[in-house]
Amino acid sequence: MDVNKLEHAEIQTENESDKLLVEKVFFHEQEHVFRWWNDLTADEQRNLLGQLRLIDFNLLQDLIGKHVEGNKPTSLKTVTLEPPDIIPVPQNDSQKARATEAKEIGENAIMAGKVAVVTVAGGLGTRLGANRPKGMLPISPIMGKSIFQLYAERIQAIVNKYDTVIPWYIMTSLNNDEMTRNFFEENRFFSLNPDNVSFFTQGVLPVIDLHGRLLMDSKSSIVTSPNGHGGTLLALKEKNVLSDMNERGVKHIFYHQVDNVLIKIADPVYLGYHIREGAKMSPKVVQKTDPEEKVGIVGIRDGHLDTIEYSELSKKERYARNPDGTLKFGMGSPAIYLLDVDFVEKINESHFALPYHKAVKKVPCIDENGCKTEPSENNAVKFEMFIFDALKHAGKSIIMEVVREDEFSPVKNAAGDNSPDTAKQSMINMFGRWLREAGIKIPTDEAGNVTGTIEISPLYALNAEELKEKIGQPDGVLAGKKIVFTGELNLQ
Ligand code: UTP
Repeated sequence: MDVNKLEHAEIQTENESDKLLVEKVFFHEQEHVFRWWNDLTADEQRNLLGQLRLIDFNLLQDLIGKHVEGNKPTSLKTVTLEPPDIIPVPQNDSQKARATEAKEIGENAIMAGKVAVVTVAGGLGTRLGANRPKGMLPISPIMGKSIFQLYAERIQAIVNKYDTVIPWYIMTSLNNDEMTRNFFEENRFFSLNPDNVSFFTQGVLPVIDLHGRLLMDSKSSIVTSPNGHGGTLLALKEKNVLSDMNERGVKHIFYHQVDNVLIKIADPVYLGYHIREGAKMSPKVVQKTDPEEKVGIVGIRDGHLDTIEYSELSKKERYARNPDGTLKFGMGSPAIYLLDVDFVEKINESHFALPYHKAVKKVPCIDENGCKTEPSENNAVKFEMFIFDALKHAGKSIIMEVVREDEFSPVKNAAGDNSPDTAKQSMINMFGRWLREAGIKIPTDEAGNVTGTIEISPLYALNAEELKEKIGQPDGVLAGKKIVFTGELNLQ
């Protein structure tokens, strides 16, 4: 079919609603997607129409206008940037006492069933390249438990400890939803009550070429991509998760990403500070390792709490130091947030508040002849929303600093930094610290890594405190026997 002369009347459809959809596609000048229409089977035609039906063409037009055709209003420059007030990692007695008070408030909220967990697992995991949901990755150092199993056991441990219910909502996307659900079914929800585990899919957006035309990955399908982790806030509303939370009496959402294997799910101290201050969205932060570490930082930009991306900081800002030598803008974001349910409702009121960001990428697609191509240069534009853009709307937040080695070790790459190997080692090292606190000698190498392997199930102990209680202090005695670490220890 000559796409230059394509008329919508040539696209034979089964019913009026399909016909209107085709007209809409022509109206938005995306008719090239029908180039192979007459070669498609009825099923393929239905598939293509089904995908097109999901597209918000007005939004797409708007994004193309702003980000591709260059009609974007010049973005406002940051005028002022200040470091935020943070709740530091407790060092002295009064800070420790405050943390203990906060913990009690958090524990009360957990016991009252006011806390839910949202795990965002809709990303494509391109850098890891595993072709299956990241949460299925075997990760625990000895047992090889999957990331999802680890989180399930952490939730179960909290449920047992406080005799409560913690609903767990897992956000997937169209590309991994079925595999994720099947994995939970096959593993019988890792012994969690299935009534308290649910899945919801985030939205997708079409991927376009550098001129704003929809990219296709076959003659009957367009390329789509999840709408970013910011899409969580929209999907929570659209997929009725907020109403389920309201019915259950949930007030606070513990939000985290699927790939941070050290995540301290529903940390009661964090919850307590957030609740006591009446905060609406609160980030945890970790010290940046060095000025050039490419993470976003949390700061006060033009009077509002915000996340400032690495590329937005000037060199002077990146290297600025406090009198104590720490980085002035050094509070990196590990993407851990508490959000109140009523705040997420508000973000969704009238006009959804988060903006879209553009990313230019190399995306495989088919060319004008319908042949698959692997581009060697950037050929595509994706649009994503970022969760941290909600911060500036929160009004009230607490910002809690935590120790990176205890709480942040993401799996992003197949090898090297932030890979399954570093994630496992960070777990082993953390378990090593817990055991040392309980009086057991654990050797380390020159880099500070434990020499040997350790695994401690969340159901055995969730943290150093619980471990100490289990294995008598100060001698590290377990079931009447002194623990001597000989290179492998597995506590399940
Ligand atoms: P990343 O931005 O690191 O993306 O997501 P990713 O998909 O894991 O990996 P790459 O960039 O393709 O290699 C951080 C977290 O946000 C979730 C991811 O699943 C991960 O938990 N996420 C990201 C979503 O849930 N949806 C999205 O659209 C994007």
